[in-house]
Amino acid sequence: MRVGILGSGLMGAKLGTIWARAGHDVVFSYARTDQKLQKLAREAGRNAKAGTPADAAREADALLLAVHWSRVDDVLKQAGDLSGKTIVTCSLPMNADDSALAIAHTSSGAEALAKKVPQARVVSAFGTVPSEVFFDVFAARRKKVRPSLVYCGDDAKSKKVAAELIRDVGFDPVDAGPLRIARYTEPFTLLMAQLAYEGDEGPELAYRFERY
Ligand SMILES: NC(=O)c1ccc[n+]([C@@H]2O[C@H](COP(=O)([O-])OP(=O)(O)OC[C@H]3O[C@@H](n4cnc5c(N)ncnc54)[C@H](OP(=O)(O)O)[C@@H]3O)[C@@H](O)[C@H]2O)c1
Repeated sequence: MRVGILGSGLMGAKLGTIWARAGHDVVFSYARTDQKLQKLAREAGRNAKAGTPADAAREADALLLAVHWSRVDDVLKQAGDLSGKTIVTCSLPMNADDSALAIAHTSSGAEALAKKVPQARVVSAFGTVPSEVFFDVFAARRKKVRPSLVYCGDDAKSKKVAAELIRDVGFDPVDAGPLRIARYTEPFTLLMAQLAYEGDEGPELAYRFERY
């Protein structure tokens, strides 16, 4: 797959690196310096390169949107025409000082994003775990029991793409239903952040659903 990374910070850098190592063609974009993108691409190996958001979007089979909520409009504008594109978003609709969700209950960041880019297909995924856990999950991907990762969206084809990307990182994808379920998954992330960052066992935290 060709995967464009829109926002190459904690989430985008790690997920892009893992997908490049898993064999996908990855374009890292949107950081404050081009040097950072170049370095990331070098370290991720021969399947990765650095580019602009428009480069990342061109010919992408999937785009990861991984920016602070306040940067969403800017990166989308730089990405250009996203008609028909699958956008996997992990971006939470946090307010300016990151103290609360700016959108919740009656909508979600994922739904608000889908309204901004109505021709694209938005899937919400990856936002429910801290970035610190991704490399550990990837390293453990051959183990029998995998951690879960919920995702939701309205377009079946795009959800298939997202599920494949989730599996490639080493998670067991859990289809939570339509995009409006992001109203539940986004607040759940705040619980995960509480456990990851306010506990004393470190932020390398994932979750697993068990059925009985
Ligand atoms: N971190 C987590 O564990 C986590 C977990 C769940 C959900 N999320 C959500 O995922 C999204 C991304 O989070 P993150 O932690 O990856 O954020 P981050 O580390 O701050 O990354 C954001 C990226 O945007 C770039 N950027 C910011 N302002 C820019 C500007 N003016 N021009 C160009 N590039 C700019 C940053 O550049 P630089 O690289 O130069 O700083 C960075 O590459 C957020 O919506 C967050 O709520 C994060």
